[in-house]
Amino acid sequence: MNILKKAGALALVGAMTLSSFPIAAVEAKEDSEVSNTAGYSTDVIYQIVTDRFLDGDSSNNPSGSIFDKYDMKKYHGGDWAGITQKINDGYFTNMGVTALWISSPVENLMIMDPSNNCASYHGYWGKDFFRANSAFGTMDDFQTMLDTAHAHGLKIVIDFAPNHTSTAEYKGYTFPEDGALYRDGEFVGSFTNDTQGIFNHEQWTDFSSLENSTYHSMYGLADLNQMNSTVDGYLKDAIDQWLDMGVDGIRVDAVKHMPQGWQTNWVSDIYEEHNVFIFGEWYNGGTGNDPEMTNFANNSGMSLLDFRYANAVRNAIGEETATMDDLYNVMVATENDFKEVNDQVTFIDNHDMSRFMTLSKSNQNNVNQAYVMLLTSRGVPTIYYGSEQYLTGGADPENRGDMTSFNTNTTAYQVISKLAPLRKTNAALSYGTSVEKWVNDDVLIYERQFGNDVVLTAVNRNDNVSYDITGLYTDLPAGSYNDELDGILNGETIRVNANGAVSNFTLNGGECAVWTYTTNDQDTNIGNVDPGIGVSGNTIAISGRGFGASQGTVKFGKTEATVVDWSDSLIEVQIPAVAGGEYTITVNSANGGSDTFDGFKVLTGSQVATRFYVNNAETEYGQSVFIVGNIEELGNWNPDKAVGTFFNSTGSIATYPTWFFDVSVPAGTRIEYKYIKKDAAGNVVWESGANHVYTTVTDGTGIVVDNFNK
Ligand code: NOJ
Ligand code: NOJ
Ligand code: CA
Repeated sequence: MNILKKAGALALVGAMTLSSFPIAAVEAKEDSEVSNTAGYSTDVIYQIVTDRFLDGDSSNNPSGSIFDKYDMKKYHGGDWAGITQKINDGYFTNMGVTALWISSPVENLMIMDPSNNCASYHGYWGKDFFRANSAFGTMDDFQTMLDTAHAHGLKIVIDFAPNHTSTAEYKGYTFPEDGALYRDGEFVGSFTNDTQGIFNHEQWTDFSSLENSTYHSMYGLADLNQMNSTVDGYLKDAIDQWLDMGVDGIRVDAVKHMPQGWQTNWVSDIYEEHNVFIFGEWYNGGTGNDPEMTNFANNSGMSLLDFRYANAVRNAIGEETATMDDLYNVMVATENDFKEVNDQVTFIDNHDMSRFMTLSKSNQNNVNQAYVMLLTSRGVPTIYYGSEQYLTGGADPENRGDMTSFNTNTTAYQVISKLAPLRKTNAALSYGTSVEKWVNDDVLIYERQFGNDVVLTAVNRNDNVSYDITGLYTDLPAGSYNDELDGILNGETIRVNANGAVSNFTLNGGECAVWTYTTNDQDTNIGNVDPGIGVSGNTIAISGRGFGASQGTVKFGKTEATVVDWSDSLIEVQIPAVAGGEYTITVNSANGGSDTFDGFKVLTGSQVATRFYVNNAETEYGQSVFIVGNIEELGNWNPDKAVGTFFNSTGSIATYPTWFFDVSVPAGTRIEYKYIKKDAAGNVVWESGANHVYTTVTDGTGIVVDNFNK
């Protein structure tokens, strides 16, 4: 722990001349600190449905028909005062939780939605993104919660839903507020008579394609048109207001339902001022790869909730419809597909799926086993509020029950409290590889490693069958290792011999154990770079181990970057003035060690979202249209990195043979580009003639209309 915190030291600056600033007294930030808001790989998140957690102030409870503690579709009274109370009494920190993800804090529709007899207790029906949801408290209550969290070493992540406002479209119903949007009390627009183009006006999405999901409404929710300059500016200013208060991260709702190009422009705008962790919700039902989802995780500039991992754990340990081997195979596949698997956010249940306790037919052991997997796996683990109390509940809203107890003695709470802190101390958990060491249908023993740090985890999901573990090898150095769970799931001490062979032991029915080796003496090793995109001048965070206590150098390609802060586990640097492109980042420690990180994307400059239309682009069966041009954002003339697939089936925007796509491009920049036709095999047909030339807008969103040159 730092004696003199950075913020405290900086506050002294005002009172001193710069030359008297006590540089030596300021300790550099480590990756595990609450002030590292860029990367969450050492954190454990706790997800709270604010309304259902704790009513700390009954005076703010809504009155009238939207409030009823016994109706699962209405407000129950939970608020920021309740969360603040639980921060103060140590419920989160004693569990080892270091970040809270709370419901969207913005003002919501405060009347019943007649089409589904539901109130906005969940926070997903935004009305004024510049104001607080009065049922959760005042802006002052929000600030108090934030400051209290920070003082207790907790980060605050807010849910944010820029996709839509409230329901406005359902046959046979009228919606008194018509999905209206306000800006700090000023009317911006509503769904019908939308003369300003604030909303998209397609029918409900059938979820059949990315295009359909993007521009159609989700269940009649008034679908914001982010490509409208007013909406774009509104959403940038609104999120800024919350981040300026000190919010440490954002969970973005429904990212599959907004143009990726707009989202990249939005997060890039955020990163210019706030180096915070942003992760999106791309709902995915199975464990297989969805190339569009993976492309988003790897290229949009934000991380994703890892539904593939969640479903794999739910299948193997919850319902037991898959084996532990299947679970491991999903871990291997996701590690290959995600560019930075450690930056994706993992979970075993949430507010949109049945609770794990219900899934496992109320077998508490299965819940405990799933937490052992979750907390030792790659990715940022998220605990869904109440599952540590073994709450039950099937589909929404049954999975959003009130907290019934805050018992710190449940086995699940104990499991979490023993494993969560290890993520801060053992880098194998935050940044390491994952390798299977012993597996059958019921058992997975797997090892994580980062430099010299090693964590070996064993999970037997079958409460009734023991297995003799023979032929197990590990990278744990020779010696004997006690179970980090202190035997609460019957784990034992193991002995590792000189060649890495583990002495035979019996993994009893339902047994779980975690054995670790942690060293403070690490080679230079990069774990994450956060975020994965940025413009020159942005501060980004490089986390890992073995950077050394004294400052070394960081290069982007051949260009040296200005170091803002340097510790053994965290380097903050400014992206240097280099051309847009993908760069290898090299860290050279003062002690002679070095490591590299590939594929950091430097954007050409501040971004603006632009809609490109191309008319008369007739294609053969199997061909689609893409754009490629002379800047990184358009793939630097590399057809493999061309941007698309363009869309052509949205009545209110464009239909074949006109194609369109929303792209994040540098502001006020003269660009050259061509449209190409490409098939799945990668065969490319280029437009003939000269390049298209266009100077992008400096502010707001842009529109370009071209003709395909045959
Ligand atoms: C996904 C959220 O998680 C879900 O709860 C919500 O209803 C929809 N998006 C719409 O906001
Ligand atoms: C106008 C509307 O009444 C609506 O409540 C809106 O969000 C703002 N004023 C203030 O809350
Ligand atoms: Ca309340």
